Amino acid sequence: MKLWGGRFETGPSEIFERFSNSLHFDRRLLDADIRGSQAFARSLTRAGVLTEAECATILEAFDSIRADAADASFFNGATDEDVHSFVIGKLGERVGALAGKIHTGRSRNEQVSLDTRLWLRDECDNSRSLLKGLMQSLLDLAAKYPNAVIPGYTHLRRAQPVLWPHYLLAYFEMFARDYERFGEARRRTNVMPLGSGALAGSGFPHDREAIARDLGFAEVTRNSMDVSADRDFALDYLYAASVAMIHLSRLAEDWILYSSEEFGWIELGDGVTSGSSLMPQKKNPDSLELIRGKSGRVLGALNSLLFTMKGLPMTYNRDMQEDKEPLFEAADQVNGCLEMAAIVADSVVLKESVPFAAADESWVVATDLAEALARNGTPFHSAHQIVGRLVLESVRAGKTPGDWNAGSLAAFAPEFTPDVARLLDPREGMKTREITGGTGPETVSAALAAARLRLANL
Ligand code: ARG
Repeated sequence: MKLWGGRFETGPSEIFERFSNSLHFDRRLLDADIRGSQAFARSLTRAGVLTEAECATILEAFDSIRADAADASFFNGATDEDVHSFVIGKLGERVGALAGKIHTGRSRNEQVSLDTRLWLRDECDNSRSLLKGLMQSLLDLAAKYPNAVIPGYTHLRRAQPVLWPHYLLAYFEMFARDYERFGEARRRTNVMPLGSGALAGSGFPHDREAIARDLGFAEVTRNSMDVSADRDFALDYLYAASVAMIHLSRLAEDWILYSSEEFGWIELGDGVTSGSSLMPQKKNPDSLELIRGKSGRVLGALNSLLFTMKGLPMTYNRDMQEDKEPLFEAADQVNGCLEMAAIVADSVVLKESVPFAAADESWVVATDLAEALARNGTPFHSAHQIVGRLVLESVRAGKTPGDWNAGSLAAFAPEFTPDVARLLDPREGMKTREITGGTGPETVSAALAAARLRLANL
């Protein structure tokens, strides 16, 4: 079905049609298109354009189109320009000339905005519920090893000891903000554009608030030109998806490292790893590598739409049809990765003694020692120098913290009073970090409980 043509002497060239048609991807909006069109039919009825009987006929026909579209063969041979034209064509096959009334005063410019918003609103909900699943998996994984100690890193060099749950809660916080960002994207998406016409506002007396109520929108758009021109709600989603993917990618990178022979901290489940076609011993972290890899596609989708929108004159331009594939792509990838990451997290086994040994045999306690000296009155700079020399001497002599004791420390420097020696154990210094947001054991266990509550209230 062509929704235009009167002004043309010849039809579009075959190459142009193939070049510009979007049905093969925007058919994904069919359900949203029908929901929106049904609400529009009801609004046209309230506005006196359709009779109640006409409206009932149209609504029923739309229901049957939706049902038929469940079978992909429904689209076989379709040559329509886009999903909007396709649906109206199908309506025509069912209700005849009456179909010609459904587009009264409506433009595809507002329709595509509506459809995209309806579709994206659901996708925001999907992403948020998958995020909740992942956050739950992280909390479960934290609770399995409440007292496990790992070396925390800066510059990928062992820095200070932290609790395993503290490390996982860092990701929990990132994903909690992602949850908020998807919520923000949803709020900006959840605005009803119908009644805007092509760009100037509808010439028919629609009750726009009633359409919004009908479709569950929180509010109506305030400017018809803005509707035709804008896709920033889609950019908001793409940004939220991109940041979530960056978080997922970094988590994936951590666990690829931590499950390597070099680290050996965690074992990934057989169900989320792959073997090699040649090397019989291999157990590769492909699920995590793919999460890391797919993040590039989502970041690309954000950039794609940013560049598409840049410099477009007001209002609608066909360029904007290029918003959908990146949007679909990003939603599929981020949702797939969130689901995958939760399953990987559920499969992780932490070999507690390995990261503990990594902390114990290195000098991650150096800061604890220096701070203890400072608490005892040594200026921090001097304390830093003294412990620095202790580390240098130990590195030269091949000594780990466990090779020192109260006596040998005091002999090294008088500032090392006997009480400081207990801080040679990486579990001890953490107890000095009972500060909001710190890795103190009591603080972490309270943070874990609080996180559980926060998640339950999302
Ligand atoms: N397929 C178009 C899109 O996705 C729908 C709007 C077309 N409007 C137009 N004036 N050509 O943007």
